[in-house]
Amino acid sequence: MATFSSISKTLRGCLIKKNSNFMPTLLRCMSNVPENSVYGGPKPQNPNQRVTLTNLRQKYKKNESITMVTAYDYPSAVHLDTAGIDICLVGDSASMVVHGHDTTLPITLDEMLVHCRAVARGANRPLLVGDLPFGTYESSAQQAVDTAVRVLKEGGMDAIKLEGGAPSRIAAAKAIVEAGIAVMGHVGLTPQAISVLGGFRPQGRNVDSAVKVVETGLALQEAGCFSVVLECVPAPVAAAATSALQIPTIGIGAGPFCSGQVLVYHDLLGMLQHPHHAKVTPKFCKQYARVGDIINKALLEYKEEVTNGSFPSSAHSPYKIGATEIDAFMQQLQKSGLGDAASAAADAAQKLVTPNLQDE
Ligand code: KIV
Repeated sequence: MATFSSISKTLRGCLIKKNSNFMPTLLRCMSNVPENSVYGGPKPQNPNQRVTLTNLRQKYKKNESITMVTAYDYPSAVHLDTAGIDICLVGDSASMVVHGHDTTLPITLDEMLVHCRAVARGANRPLLVGDLPFGTYESSAQQAVDTAVRVLKEGGMDAIKLEGGAPSRIAAAKAIVEAGIAVMGHVGLTPQAISVLGGFRPQGRNVDSAVKVVETGLALQEAGCFSVVLECVPAPVAAAATSALQIPTIGIGAGPFCSGQVLVYHDLLGMLQHPHHAKVTPKFCKQYARVGDIINKALLEYKEEVTNGSFPSSAHSPYKIGATEIDAFMQQLQKSGLGDAASAAADAAQKLVTPNLQDE
């Protein structure tokens, strides 16, 4: 009993001490417990801030737009968190915008899990949704549940997203929800299905296809999904789906009448100003910045300054050695027969003398 009590004290200590090394892992594991209203058990890591399905539902009921953006690593996750984005999607678009593939098909579950864990370390507030990658959930409902469990347990996500609305996909969504995992559906253009869709083609542009978008959304809702992404469908079709469903729709290339919007991080930031990416940046995407140009400019400037020797100057050579120390160091070098090295040290000390590099 004494041991148990000391362990429990340590745990409580870790929860309270903000700087404890143990805290991020411990609390991250608990982030999959978004609501706790009956028993006093584990709490989400930041009960005041963590976006939960309940928060999304409230926004939806109040007709407030839900914001969702993809993230793939720690810095992008921190950016989304800081901006107060509601949902952070670790999308399989990582395959294209991070790994440089032409489609989302090649990315593996293990690669996705690395992205998920990095994002989970950086985003404390948004609901974290991890995409099930192609080839990891289509064979059976059991395979889908096993993959979804890994995305939560090993990836630190709060929910998963899967693409498509074939009966087997609906059964998979239902089985995952029954396993206790929140599921976001994805209809319209489902990039994992480009083989049968014949490429990245908009959907819902004829009656049959438009009706299919709405019906698939309804089937996913029936399966227990908490939300559905509508990708690349005409705005009136998205509006019809949004009206028919009682769960939020999140649009991408689907016009303004959805319950929320999602964009790919690299696309919305204009991160990839490169011919390869110009090719894959979709028409519907608004670029809110041209970050790629800023990065290119900075890299060229860095290259130039390293080449011409102006970087690093004394301002970026902050580690000091006192005058007495440098003299003794030079004498030591001389004694060791390293006269040239001693002269180099003397020259450098002279060149880099600035007020803040003087002895204290
Ligand atoms: O993988 C992804 O980025 C997505 C969004 C386009 C919704 O699925």
